[in-house]
Amino acid sequence: MEQRTSSPYPRIDRLVMAIVGVVLVLGTVLFMWSDRAHDWRYYQMEFRQMVAGQFGEDKAAILPSGVQQIWVAELSRADRCVTCHQAVSYPGFESAEQPYRTHPKLPLQQHPVEDYGCTSCHGGQGWAIDTAAAHGEVAHWEEPLLSRSLGESYTLAGNKNALMQMNCNTCHRYDRQTPGATAINLAKSLVNEKGCRACHVINGFGGTIGPDLTDVGEKPPEQYEFGRLSGQRTAFAWHVAHFKDPRALSEGTVMPNFNFSTEQAQSLAMLMLSWRRADVPARYVSGTPRVDPRSAEELAAEAALKTGPGGWFVQTGCFVCHSISALGVKSPAQIGPDLSNAVEDVQSRFGVTIDAFLANPTGTMSVVLSRQIILTPEQKQEAVAKLREAFAEYQRQRAAPATGK
Ligand code: HEC
Ligand code: HEC
Ligand code: HEC
Ligand code: HEC
Ligand code: HEC
Repeated sequence: MEQRTSSPYPRIDRLVMAIVGVVLVLGTVLFMWSDRAHDWRYYQMEFRQMVAGQFGEDKAAILPSGVQQIWVAELSRADRCVTCHQAVSYPGFESAEQPYRTHPKLPLQQHPVEDYGCTSCHGGQGWAIDTAAAHGEVAHWEEPLLSRSLGESYTLAGNKNALMQMNCNTCHRYDRQTPGATAINLAKSLVNEKGCRACHVINGFGGTIGPDLTDVGEKPPEQYEFGRLSGQRTAFAWHVAHFKDPRALSEGTVMPNFNFSTEQAQSLAMLMLSWRRADVPARYVSGTPRVDPRSAEELAAEAALKTGPGGWFVQTGCFVCHSISALGVKSPAQIGPDLSNAVEDVQSRFGVTIDAFLANPTGTMSVVLSRQIILTPEQKQEAVAKLREAFAEYQRQRAAPATGK
């Protein structure tokens, strides 16, 4: 009969049960699929086949599997990068594709992975096990992988892989030079050559005309004035633009334009961003003493100058920025003009006497004499007298043909 075919249950219940059944099956399938979709399983499988192919099934069988982690308690780092990058310490895959490539040997000899993990050098999110998340290509992650691709997006002029050196230098800041950190090394020699310390305190000593740079890398992005910057609004881009033309970003600043090349400006920007408070135990900070002192030669040269005929300019601190060549004083940085003929030069450039200029200085000297070298009126008279002496010596040397050597 027709009634027979209908079930004892009402129609609506059958529908609900059918839906529940479908949802359960779908849920299970979806769960299995999403778990399988973790690409690390795929990379581990692939690597196992590579090892089997090259070194035999026995070697492949003892490869670790599942999520792998390097836990460095002292650095509070739990880096799971090796879940995919299984070849890091496995010689024989030096030219394989990533993530199957053996790691360059030297950095890990100097810094064993058990003590350093991966992210202390590379950045990225140690605990993540999906590529994009691990490499920090996600919103609101402050520490992206400092990779070649990021270097390319920052249009690095030199080595595209150099951004990582910012992390090297959080531990190596007190080294004069660090083998392997070429961009940072270039920037460090520029800081010495150009005499940035004439105006900036760095690691505890230097002038006070500009801000203290010791922890300048801590400055949060929102504190930068990006108004005058075109293009990418990152702290890195700000520093590069500021080094190329300080006045373009900071109106009226007395920081000189050193005519840096793009590579020099970018290297300096990396050095600035690396100057952060290193959040690592002391044994991870290389180099002693923990200041970067002037070399013995630099100190000896300064001591000799102090007692020479231009001693006053050295003791007063003018020589940090000015040579006075007539008196044998050579400034390491030469940020301002040679003062040998300042008496005449000030008159022709500013139309005032040297007395009037020092009493009422303009430009950089107004900042120098109000913030860094405070002179009493008597000391200013002494400065004038010394500048006149230098000028007299300058004229005498010009008149007399050079004798001897
Ligand atoms: C889920 C797997 C996976 C994890 C986890 C992972 N990676 Fe990778 N990694 C890859 C793959 C795949 C590539 C090659 C393709 C690419 O560059 O995205 C790669 C490439 C790289 C490169 C070269 C990038 C470049 O631009 O040249 C570096 C460096 C790197 N990974 C470091 C790390 C570090 C450090 C971690 C841990 C924080 C990590 N990876 C975690 C899969 C992974
Ligand atoms: C002491 C710092 C340091 C540590 C720790 C370190 N690496 Fe590296 N890594 C380097 C340097 C330096 C290079 C070479 C970069 C270059 O070729 O310019 C490199 C290269 C790589 C590359 C190839 C990148 C490329 O662009 O070709 C990958 C991938 C990588 N490392 C992953 C890892 C993983 C995973 C770990 C943790 C097990 C790790 N590294 C630990 C410093 C380090
Ligand atoms: C977490 C801190 C840390 C990081 C990050 C780090 N290093 Fe080191 N590195 C050290 C310490 C500590 C030593 C041992 C130094 C010592 O004995 O004075 C060392 C040793 C070295 C050495 C051998 C000693 C020497 O001065 O010749 C080199 C070269 C070196 N590191 C370069 C690098 C480079 C390049 C990077 C980035 C890719 C880097 N380091 C990242 C802490 C670090
Ligand atoms: C004649 C003095 C003078 C010299 C020399 C000088 N600076 Fe500056 N610098 C300043 C002043 C003043 C400021 C603040 C105004 C500005 O942003 O330009 C400044 C700002 C900076 C800033 C931005 C700091 C911040 O917190 O925003 C950095 C970074 C910097 N200088 C680095 C350097 C480096 C590196 C050198 C050497 C290559 C150098 N300066 C040489 C005077 C100087
Ligand atoms: C932090 C660097 C710095 C220090 C320290 C410094 N000066 Fe200067 N000075 C400069 C700069 C830069 C100029 C060029 C300024 C300009 O053109 O606006 C300058 C210009 C001068 C001039 C004008 C020279 C000319 O030929 O036009 C005199 C004079 C002078 N300084 C004297 C002194 C004396 C004296 C001292 C020491 C008490 C001193 N300066 C210390 C940076 C400095």
